Amino acid sequence: MKMLKLNLSTAALFAALLACGPAPARGVDIAQADRTGKLISIAAAHFGVLLQLGSDGRLYQVDSGRRLSPSSLYGQLSTDEVDDLLARPEAMVFTNGGKLDRETEYHPAFGDGFISEPAVQATHADGNNSTDLIFVTNQSTRLDSNITLTHIELKDRYYPFFVTLCVKAYHDQDVLEQWTEFRHDEDGTVTLFRFASSSSVIQSNQYWLTQLHGDWANEGNLEEDKLGMGMTILDSKIGVRAGRFRTPSFLLSIRNPAQEESGEVYGGTLEWSGSFQFAFDVNWQGQLRVLCGINPFASQYPLARGQVFKTPAMLWTWSEAGKGRVSRNFHRWARLYGVRDAGQPRPIVLNNWEATGFNFTESRIVSLFDGARELGADLFLLDDGWFANKYPRNNDGAGLGDWQVNTNKLPRGLSFLAGEAKQRGIRFGIWLEPEMVNPRSELYERHPEWAMAEPHRQPEVSRNQLDLDLTRPEAREFAWKVIENTLGSNPGISYVKWDANRYVTQPGSTYLKPDEQSRLLIDYNFALYDIMARMASNYPSVTAMLCSGGAGRADYGALKYFHTFWPSDNTDPLHRVFIQWGFSQFFPACALSDHVTKMGSRPFKFTLDVALSGTLGLDMDVAKMTAAERKATTAAINLYKQSLRDIVCQGDLYRLDSPYEGPRSAISYVTPDRARAALFVYQIQDAADQPVKLRGLDPAAKYLLREVNLPDGAVSRLPADGKTFDGAVLMGDGLAPNCQKQFESAVVELTRQ
Ligand code: DGJ
Repeated sequence: MKMLKLNLSTAALFAALLACGPAPARGVDIAQADRTGKLISIAAAHFGVLLQLGSDGRLYQVDSGRRLSPSSLYGQLSTDEVDDLLARPEAMVFTNGGKLDRETEYHPAFGDGFISEPAVQATHADGNNSTDLIFVTNQSTRLDSNITLTHIELKDRYYPFFVTLCVKAYHDQDVLEQWTEFRHDEDGTVTLFRFASSSSVIQSNQYWLTQLHGDWANEGNLEEDKLGMGMTILDSKIGVRAGRFRTPSFLLSIRNPAQEESGEVYGGTLEWSGSFQFAFDVNWQGQLRVLCGINPFASQYPLARGQVFKTPAMLWTWSEAGKGRVSRNFHRWARLYGVRDAGQPRPIVLNNWEATGFNFTESRIVSLFDGARELGADLFLLDDGWFANKYPRNNDGAGLGDWQVNTNKLPRGLSFLAGEAKQRGIRFGIWLEPEMVNPRSELYERHPEWAMAEPHRQPEVSRNQLDLDLTRPEAREFAWKVIENTLGSNPGISYVKWDANRYVTQPGSTYLKPDEQSRLLIDYNFALYDIMARMASNYPSVTAMLCSGGAGRADYGALKYFHTFWPSDNTDPLHRVFIQWGFSQFFPACALSDHVTKMGSRPFKFTLDVALSGTLGLDMDVAKMTAAERKATTAAINLYKQSLRDIVCQGDLYRLDSPYEGPRSAISYVTPDRARAALFVYQIQDAADQPVKLRGLDPAAKYLLREVNLPDGAVSRLPADGKTFDGAVLMGDGLAPNCQKQFESAVVELTRQ
């Protein structure tokens, strides 16, 4: 095999990176000389990162983004030569001696001369605050035809302190999933102060960051800002839920603000339901480092000898075709790997929360079953208020923690209700909030020490409740028993809505020792996942909705144990158009529960059409619906089950007209084989009718158009209804939806002929 010599002129991309080499390595205990220049490529179909070992033993990031190809990276080298390089990196000789810019170090640590925001910061057992990581080894294993797992081991130059960088590359979905594992063999405890899951360097001249922010009943707002020099932080510090004010996901556009279907855009989302931090650091050379992971704020982690600390994984994707493809990559990944049973049809749930709140009786609930059945719902979900006797759960001020059925409201228990539902041919589900306690409860009377609190401070309640300290084994077991007792003794319950209605403000534990307190917020979430995982594996046929006072846990950390999440308590369809648009950037429709309600008093067709574009459900008192509303809902549910559900839940999303940019919102879903599609148009302000240009269709195919979900007896006003068009025409010229007035809407099915 020939030796390839890369010099500055043939490796144009390297040239920018070869300045300012570090000081020669001190006391290297692992021979590096013969490996200088070694390349490690981690790549999905079109997206990857290329790493390189420097002469100082450190690992550097050469590039990220477009999967490195001969033309992009190596200029004049042939494909064979490049393959040879990647396979035999020792054959590569760098004319600069392998010195690389410290600012491009892949996973830098504090204390070894690196002066920007580090990915790792630790105090070693002997009190040394510095860490100096060098490359030890790497290994890639093909897990199956789609996934390759790469481990890269780094070690401190002196201490037996190891950092393993782990990356799963999902080839077909263009997703990299990255996490970090820490362990040591030092004589004592090492304290981790910073422990990023991923630390990527991106090189461009401008960066535009989109975040998803909000508050209770106002979730999922998109905001894009240009990154300036220095550090921008998106984070949450609220411990037991990733968000209330911000979701742990972002888009990062290179050079220009993000476009829907063009331009280079990265997407990132963290698999973690606790405090998170994304730090975007633009340095004096214009390079951007993005550090993602658990928020190190108030969370330094004491690591015992031999213990492994595994960070949550960060998901990255990238596209050269705008944020639309970023979303489709995440959705495809999520449907295969990120959301529980995503291939299975979601049941249509009728929830009683907005109909009854806490105020119901057994007969009232049973009477709602008949309505649910009549409309065609698959399942009745009994929300908050069904439990507690000494301190009955008649409002949010009492009873949380006392998970015995309230015998006044439900004298014959949950099994009776489940049986009544079954007799009417529907399933039965239940609301739980197993991690929380009201001070006015028997649980709190017995075990005040199970709640998180700080000594010498008045417990600070939120929604009149406190968080149980899940690091305490008895409290953790209690939370598990809430699930097991409810589901195990009532096999007729086949759905759970898991809620969590407060965040943490006093992260103190009476179980953890004084020097362990700072691990509470992290270990809480590991304990939480343990319980969620047990629920998913012990009750595989129970469908589960994730709720945290709305979208507080809209994250892929928890979603692997759940079928859907509840995006907001705001179900006004006008607001939902925006909320669903926001979450669709990162999450597929099969994961978003979208319920028809009366909130906002919008025209009923508009309300139905908005909910039909996600995982359809209802939150209504059927007895209070008009005959026309009942008829329309029954027809919509039937339509959803017959044809829309699998297009919406399994199809590729194309966002066509943004409600942020104009008077209407339009989206479509296209099945992977492009044989069927569904178009949803929502007019949010009065405006003249304009054609909607579809995307993702087969340009050469012919599609029959049919407007669906029309009010009873109405005739479509769409000129294109019932006609056949070429895919190319629908994408080039578009179709007029005939929506002009605020709250007009249209749903159109397209079928390839
Ligand atoms: C907050 C949820 O978001 C609501 O849907 C409802 O379940 C209430 N909690 C019940 O307390």
